[in-house]
Amino acid sequence: MTDRVAVVVGGASGIGAAIVRGLAADGYRVTAADRALDGAVALAGSLGPEHRAERVEITDEESVSALFDAVADREGRLDVAVNCAGVNALGLVTELPADKFRRVVDVCLTGAWLVVKHAARRMAPGGSILSLSSLNSRQPGIGMGAYCAAKAGLSMLTEVAALELAPKGIRVNAIAPGLVVTPLTAGALDVPGVKEDYLDNTPLGRAGTPEEVAEAAVYISRAQWLTGEVLDLNGGAHMMRYPNVHAHVTSAYESVGD
Ligand SMILES: NC(=O)c1ccc[n+]([C@@H]2O[C@H](COP(=O)([O-])OP(=O)(O)OC[C@H]3O[C@@H](n4cnc5c(N)ncnc54)[C@H](O)[C@@H]3O)[C@@H](O)[C@H]2O)c1
Repeated sequence: MTDRVAVVVGGASGIGAAIVRGLAADGYRVTAADRALDGAVALAGSLGPEHRAERVEITDEESVSALFDAVADREGRLDVAVNCAGVNALGLVTELPADKFRRVVDVCLTGAWLVVKHAARRMAPGGSILSLSSLNSRQPGIGMGAYCAAKAGLSMLTEVAALELAPKGIRVNAIAPGLVVTPLTAGALDVPGVKEDYLDNTPLGRAGTPEEVAEAAVYISRAQWLTGEVLDLNGGAHMMRYPNVHAHVTSAYESVGD
């Protein structure tokens, strides 16, 4: 065990929870932060008393700032910040209600920026900030305008922040996963045809696991010469096309109505 300290926002579930476990195994004292506090508490408790949980709502700047204040006060340093919070909303550009579009952008882009902003302010040279972008930052998906736009913005934000923070010795990177089976994707994957379409468009022919994303996150946290990188981690899916999830969902609803 070293004295290195990590915070994983969105750390209660899915990819974030795997990253909490991966960084803890790599010797960090990890704070799992999430709006779902119970899940974060259970995860941190399962890993040992040096690991902690905090509630955070990343669309609220005061909440994000208070999280990093609490970690700095308790731990005395911050080496790694990872943001895994994300939400999706399916709907065509001509149909999606504005409040749903705003919510996705608020969590996936504005919230991610708040994490970068308030983590970087508490970091010393050597710090690492990692965001979870998506295959959808470079591949458009029909009915996924809000998510695709937010994740494309997050990938560019990663590069801008990497440029601005390099003189302070802080690295900023992102991982852009393809399909990983988690609570976020479970609902869509239950729709007939969706998983098959994903896998037909994934050269390695399978979904990734949260643990495979966590391995990359641990590597990026160590990689002292890596900054401004958005890592495609998707079994080669970025070389193919994104499935038409909207068409599968629409036809599933139509057949329920038959
Ligand atoms: N699962 C995939 O296939 C996939 C693919 C590409 C990118 N991603 C991205 O990876 C990240 C993690 O996804 P996941 O599949 O593990 O999802 P998940 O739903 O399992 O976990 C997301 C976590 O973020 C938390 N969260 C959501 N909104 C929040 C908010 N406003 N404030 C604080 N916490 C909040 C949730 O409570 C949850 O614990 C997301 O950013 C997602 O967009 C996932």
